[in-house]
Amino acid sequence: MVFTNLSFLNEESMKKIRWGILGCGKIARKFAADLRFVEDAELFAVGARELNTAEAFAKDFPAKHVHESYETLVSNPEVEVIYVATPHGLHHEHVMLCLKHKKAVLCEKAFAINYREAKEMINFAKAQNSFIMEAFWTRLLPHYLKMKELLAQGKVGTIKFLNAEFGFIPTPPFPSRLYDPALGGGALLDIGVYPIFLALDLLGKPDHIDAVMTPASTGVDEQCAIRFQYNSGAIAQLFCTFASNLATGADIAGDQGRIRLTHRFHGPTTHLEYYPGIVETRESIDFEKAMGNGYEYEARHVNECLKSNLTESPVLTHNLTLLLMETLDEIRAKAGIKYSAD
Ligand SMILES: NC(=O)c1ccc[n+]([C@@H]2O[C@H](COP(=O)([O-])OP(=O)(O)OC[C@H]3O[C@@H](n4cnc5c(N)ncnc54)[C@H](OP(=O)(O)O)[C@@H]3O)[C@@H](O)[C@H]2O)c1
Repeated sequence: MVFTNLSFLNEESMKKIRWGILGCGKIARKFAADLRFVEDAELFAVGARELNTAEAFAKDFPAKHVHESYETLVSNPEVEVIYVATPHGLHHEHVMLCLKHKKAVLCEKAFAINYREAKEMINFAKAQNSFIMEAFWTRLLPHYLKMKELLAQGKVGTIKFLNAEFGFIPTPPFPSRLYDPALGGGALLDIGVYPIFLALDLLGKPDHIDAVMTPASTGVDEQCAIRFQYNSGAIAQLFCTFASNLATGADIAGDQGRIRLTHRFHGPTTHLEYYPGIVETRESIDFEKAMGNGYEYEARHVNECLKSNLTESPVLTHNLTLLLMETLDEIRAKAGIKYSAD
């Protein structure tokens, strides 16, 4: 995939990396399930705010150490890398806690509440040579790599228009973080990051941004519509909502053809369709199927980075994370979405 150096296949390379999970919520469960498919990873320790939560988690996903607090988890000297799976409003605090204990970090999206927090987290990691990466799993999934390959082969020509949306109606019991401003609630930071990441990754930093939002009763954005304009003439139209169930698809249209990711474009169950030329002929493109929920790819990538003594992923770079955070700040300023951390 990304790494081709076969020296990974020696004995040292199969040494298991000892993972810790900080926060035992919904996504932590999916990640822990997928870690079982990563040959050189061991779920070594889990930590929750209360011991019984961590114990219940470890019953389903056995770990050698079960910690009654995040502090005791990060103080475990044998843990090598920590997956931070708390609400985004707490990522800064929890990532800094990990870094101060010299742990490598994989931090869930949204990486932070704003650019300032993200920059502080990355600078701190850099200053002490610690690895840090945003858990933007989509970028490492087989369908996404395939799409990038088709684009690099010129299959759509020059991208002129990108349309991507992400929408679902949260049904109880959903995490309180979704609507809680103190935890970074709102559609933009939760799901809007996916269409925005796609546009930034494929088209780069926009030259002009417009955005509007509709507030939920708690004041966070229930929906947010965004338009990126580029001096090249390209336009990206991006949308996220907690008010409707959408296909959550994406279209990447160029002057030579179009690629469509049919549904849940951010995950491994999407379909990749290619429409060459002007005529509506459609080609379905095959890609490797995930063994788990798809989170195994990011975990494997982190292992590879750590075994290569990298402090930054060559794919999900610090600059890409910072560009995303900077863009989210600008969208929020345009749409009027504020957090107390700003
Ligand atoms: N990559 C993806 O596909 C994906 C999907 C869903 C979510 N996410 C991201 O993952 C993060 C967690 O989302 P989630 O859906 O797993 O949320 P969740 O179910 O609410 O879990 C968050 C966990 O954070 C911990 N926590 C610490 N302080 C908290 C507080 N004050 N309030 C609430 N929880 C607190 C809790 O764990 P303990 O009580 O065990 O300590 C809680 O279980 C978010 O940043 C989200 O954007 C990513």
